[in-house]
Amino acid sequence: MPENKVNVAVVGCGIFGEVHAATYAGFEDANLVAVCDVDAERAADFAERFDCRACTSVAEIAADEAIEAVSVVTPDCDHREVCVELARSGKHMLIEKPLATSVEDADAIALAVDETGVTAMIDFHNRYHPAILVAKARLDRGEMGKPQVMYARLSDRIEVATEWLSWAGRSGPEWFLGSHLVDVARVLFGKQPRRVFADARKDVLAARGIDCYDSVQMHLSYDDGMATLETSWIIPNAWPMVCDFYVSLQTTEARADIDMSNQGATIVDDGRYDRPFLFGHTPMGRADFGFMSYPIRDFVRAVQSGQPAPCTIDDGLDNVRIIAAAMESIQTGQVVELET
Ligand SMILES: NC(=O)c1ccc[n+]([C@@H]2O[C@H](COP(=O)([O-])OP(=O)(O)OC[C@H]3O[C@@H](n4cnc5c(N)ncnc54)[C@H](O)[C@@H]3O)[C@@H](O)[C@H]2O)c1
Repeated sequence: MPENKVNVAVVGCGIFGEVHAATYAGFEDANLVAVCDVDAERAADFAERFDCRACTSVAEIAADEAIEAVSVVTPDCDHREVCVELARSGKHMLIEKPLATSVEDADAIALAVDETGVTAMIDFHNRYHPAILVAKARLDRGEMGKPQVMYARLSDRIEVATEWLSWAGRSGPEWFLGSHLVDVARVLFGKQPRRVFADARKDVLAARGIDCYDSVQMHLSYDDGMATLETSWIIPNAWPMVCDFYVSLQTTEARADIDMSNQGATIVDDGRYDRPFLFGHTPMGRADFGFMSYPIRDFVRAVQSGQPAPCTIDDGLDNVRIIAAAMESIQTGQVVELET
């Protein structure tokens, strides 16, 4: 049993908060002390399932001196207030992607982190996807030449926007899904783009009272390459997997094609043709398979060791700046230059 277990809490007991709580509960280096949700029923349900205390306000977590580190798993648009309060109370934070849904909010979080010196890590978990790791390792070893042109798509079945997330209209596919794509481009190109151009459509979701884009396409220009990133929130629910995730990278010497929509299993019955998302988070009995738990464990290790977190607040800030630049491009119809 490790001597310096980290006392942790999870704020946001929703769909993804479960991945954080389950990972901490099953990780020997962490001690899950409390969970927090403004919805008391959700907090109580998590507390019972993961054997810890339930809270309904972030202030309770902030005031608990025993808690060292917190996962922030609130809606995309509700990270700022929670993160600033936690940073000011000295808590290290693992913040779900995207860091925020505006540069102003992201800057406010970064400022609080800077002023307090807490460790802040952004959970860009696709950095830990086995196929992305393999491509990145080969690039780093110089086996693939230099990235030249990338096309990537991450889209969801429409139910994610219409049924899963009550706050979809306060985010959008560009933030919820596009933040992953922008980060995967960052990992594979190993640098930031110089310019962004984007286009988008609002139609189907707006007609259903959800005020966000249906589909967004972003074009990122680098000094020596380019990436087209596409995201949509209106795939029909009959699509066999909750998401459609595809990455293709042409380099100067090689080509990588990663189709994450097929993870090796299809289960069909009379009502449904299903491709379960096996690689992400698959709790089976007492074991927890899937790459999504790895960044959560790395966060605990960073807090334990005092070493920098593998995915920093600057990564989160750059990510928000690129998506905000894409939103500006959609409004103006112009290419937006990024500060380097
Ligand atoms: N759903 C996914 O597949 C997924 C995957 C990866 C990352 N994420 C990210 O995780 C975050 C949460 O997404 P989700 O899908 O779990 O949303 P969700 O709506 O299922 O859960 C969010 C929870 O936060 C609670 N909450 C809101 N404001 C709060 C506050 N101030 N204090 C405490 N609790 C508060 C809500 O009541 C809700 O229970 C988002 O940033 C999202 O992008 C989600």
